[in-house]
Amino acid sequence: MSLLELDDLSVTYRIASGEVPAVRGVSLSLDPGAALGVAGESGSGKSSLAMALLRLLPKSTRVGGRILLDGEDILAMKWGRMRAVRWAEASIVFQGAQHGLNPVRRIGEQIAEPLLVHGLAKPDGARKRVAELLEQVGLPAWRARSYPHELSGGQRQRVMIAMALACSPRLIIADEPTTALDVMVQAQVLTLIKELIAEHGISLIMISHDLSVLADVCDQLAVMYAGRVVEHGPSREVFHDARHPYSRALAAAFPTVGDPVSRLAPKGLGGDPPDPMQLPAGCSFHPRCPVAVEECAGLDVELWPAGPRHAAACVHVRTKEEVETS
Ligand SMILES: Nc1ncnc2c1ncn2[C@@H]1O[C@H](COP(=O)(O)OP(=O)(O)OP(=O)(O)O)[C@@H](O)[C@H]1O
Ligand code: SF4
Ligand SMILES: [Mg+2]
Repeated sequence: MSLLELDDLSVTYRIASGEVPAVRGVSLSLDPGAALGVAGESGSGKSSLAMALLRLLPKSTRVGGRILLDGEDILAMKWGRMRAVRWAEASIVFQGAQHGLNPVRRIGEQIAEPLLVHGLAKPDGARKRVAELLEQVGLPAWRARSYPHELSGGQRQRVMIAMALACSPRLIIADEPTTALDVMVQAQVLTLIKELIAEHGISLIMISHDLSVLADVCDQLAVMYAGRVVEHGPSREVFHDARHPYSRALAAAFPTVGDPVSRLAPKGLGGDPPDPMQLPAGCSFHPRCPVAVEECAGLDVELWPAGPRHAAACVHVRTKEEVETS
């Protein structure tokens, strides 16, 4: 059985001027111990998807579809159960470590908190576990006494990873865990994540705009555009042989790992991502697509099979498959 299954997941924010459909019908699954990368430009809905998984979105947000964690429906859980699941079964490393740490509390107290809250350790045991966790993420035990501002960006990100590991969850969701870091530190943190998930058999959902980073860490990739998954499949195939023109543009924008310009618009791709409140009809990508054909502007796109466990939402994939099967 899959550890995590998303079925037609949607996230709609409600704001004064109307509704913002940030995630639109995403279906994905994650096997135990597997790593799934979610890529896409700024605003494509990656963080909204991640926050929905642990019900961390603002109250007014409408979340539709189903999220099954080990067969249990997250969206139907009572709050008590939901709180028990956070940290202990699934934890999240937020985008930008500065938002995830309390500036006026020592690192050690913050790592120990989920252990104490979930009753997994008494204060003495928690102190020992904190030292162990710091060591696992490559920091000396005395760092437990430091405040967040006394650490570098890379060290803070390591602390966030230690917090995520504290209660030995089965799933970690890492939202741009390395984007704010310089290239060398980014590589070190990525290696750390890779080693930790392999060693502890943890499943991972990692989010980034950088397809090369994801392809390095994850077995499966999903590419999001305007709130939808437009391609998913084995990492190597999606990165080296993308079937959707948007994934191809993302793949071509790297391997300049961490290039901040690529975050805004992949090189070689004109135009801006669409405003979710004014999505183009047909394939949402058609105004920017270098290989669009006439029917794209009115096309009802869906994810068509592009190989074993590989699918892409492009008319050219559908056409090719139709030719191959006829
Ligand atoms: N709290 C909110 N209220 C209203 N709209 C929101 C809210 N949070 C996000 N959005 C909108 O939802 C869409 C998706 O945003 P999201 O943060 O999920 O994108 P992202 O892919 O994580 O982008 P980035 O790469 O910049 O982190 C965007 O259009 C964004 O403006
Ligand atoms: S369906 Fe058309 S517009 Fe959309 S990605 Fe394919 S070719 Fe481009
Ligand atoms: Mg984000």
